[in-house]
Amino acid sequence: PAIILNFGSQYVQLIARRIRELGIYSEILPFNTKAEEILKRDPYCVILSGGPASVYEPSAPLPDEDIYHLGIPLLGICYGLQAMVYQLGGVVERAVKQEYGRAKLTVIKDDPLFYGLPKEFDVWMSHADKVVSLPEGFEVLASSENSPNAVIKKGKLYGIQFHPEVAHTTYGREIFHNFLYRVCNAQKNWEVGDLVEEKLQEIRDTVKEGKVICALSGGVDSTVAAVLTHRAIGDRLECIFVDHGLLRKGEVQEVESYFRSLSLPFRKVNASELFLSRLKGVEDPEEKRKIVGRTFIEVFEKEAERSGAEYLLQGTLYPDVVESAGIPGAKVIKTHHNVGGLPEKLGLKLLEPLKELFKDEVRQIGKKLGIPDELLQRHPFPGPGLSIRILGEVKEEDLEILREADYIFIEELKRWGLYNKVWQAFAVLLPIKSVGVMGDVRTYERVVALRAVDSSDGMTADWSRLPYDFLDHVMRRIINEVKGINRVVYDISSKPPATIEWE
Ligand code: XMP
Repeated sequence: PAIILNFGSQYVQLIARRIRELGIYSEILPFNTKAEEILKRDPYCVILSGGPASVYEPSAPLPDEDIYHLGIPLLGICYGLQAMVYQLGGVVERAVKQEYGRAKLTVIKDDPLFYGLPKEFDVWMSHADKVVSLPEGFEVLASSENSPNAVIKKGKLYGIQFHPEVAHTTYGREIFHNFLYRVCNAQKNWEVGDLVEEKLQEIRDTVKEGKVICALSGGVDSTVAAVLTHRAIGDRLECIFVDHGLLRKGEVQEVESYFRSLSLPFRKVNASELFLSRLKGVEDPEEKRKIVGRTFIEVFEKEAERSGAEYLLQGTLYPDVVESAGIPGAKVIKTHHNVGGLPEKLGLKLLEPLKELFKDEVRQIGKKLGIPDELLQRHPFPGPGLSIRILGEVKEEDLEILREADYIFIEELKRWGLYNKVWQAFAVLLPIKSVGVMGDVRTYERVVALRAVDSSDGMTADWSRLPYDFLDHVMRRIINEVKGINRVVYDISSKPPATIEWE
């Protein structure tokens, strides 16, 4: 196998997945796994993941130093590179110019790692520290503007400052391919098996004769989880669709009609008053997320009691787990409500069949299950709904404003044939007012931000280059049609350093 040592990177499962896709079996082990343990597995290579620490901190996680002397190819990524440099006698420091997002990499020296690649290409960086001097015997293979030592090598020890595992690194896949097949001389030993069959069996084995209750949101994840489970255990699955009052315009009807067409057994619970009353006066984003999560669970617990279910099915994906610090060493970025809001005493066991997968893999499973494209191509929508797209306190009148603005944006994206070209798009209502002039009259009203991003898994994202004419048209419609808005802005932040949602 390929061994991946985990230093708490947001991207560790992405590394595993890239390797899986290339036909090599991989295993993720804790960062401090002893070299002899690693050797026992007869690995092709050791990959050191990124991570949130700094090597010069006293408590920094460092690998067993013997791994550098096993004679096995090694690839340190970001923090992994820094750990290797530090342990082998080089110097790592906090960078003056930190580097997040896209950077141009220039290849300085030919190497099997860059076989078939151009001399210059875009890579994705996310680091605060950088390598300022190399350990003895290392040479530089490639540089970026802010990272002269972006790719380094000594024999079969490689270090890369950027993240080849993320989709925004243009030739990331090729770099892994070259590393595995040209540097490590690996042989294909892993077939991406029929995930559907595997998952059906897994669900049957877990649930046995039990009953399952499921939170259907109308999103891709919970729908795929539900259709999959329904196929595995039939009507022992009951789906609950909670209207938390934080859905978009027309969404309740739209989602209900999808469920009917998929013949999923579902029950609608209207709990909007409960959710909105709990959110009253609350401004803090994490607090809002937690309240929505807790209230959800409360509603489900009641439903589960009624239905006699033992299991709660959730469409949790891998990115939800990582960003809620569901893996050791990772930092909390946001509490995603699928994970973070769960109370310890939850009277239900969790069934999360999609937990190690990414959105695009889930879409592939959905396709195999016969779920219509129109549903599978729906943009992701966060569990806390519009509550995290109204910055600050959630008020009913603001929900109305946001619903209208968002509806116009999405409707126009569909009309212009752009909806399926962007990964996710939505409007955000800002808590500030600005001055405008409409029909010779001064206005002092709210601002709507439009957000559209390109991504493949939500882990990294770049802002969509939507046509100016399109943005102009949407701006005009929103300001003319939505009362209370006199300014529209377009968000041009990438992730990192921003996140996709504003809260
Ligand atoms: P961020 O804002 O973390 O979002 O960059 C990444 C993706 O996750 C969605 N998101 C959520 N999905 N529950 C969910 O099911 C949540 O609590 C949640 N928060 C964010 C977000 O819309 C984006 O697609």
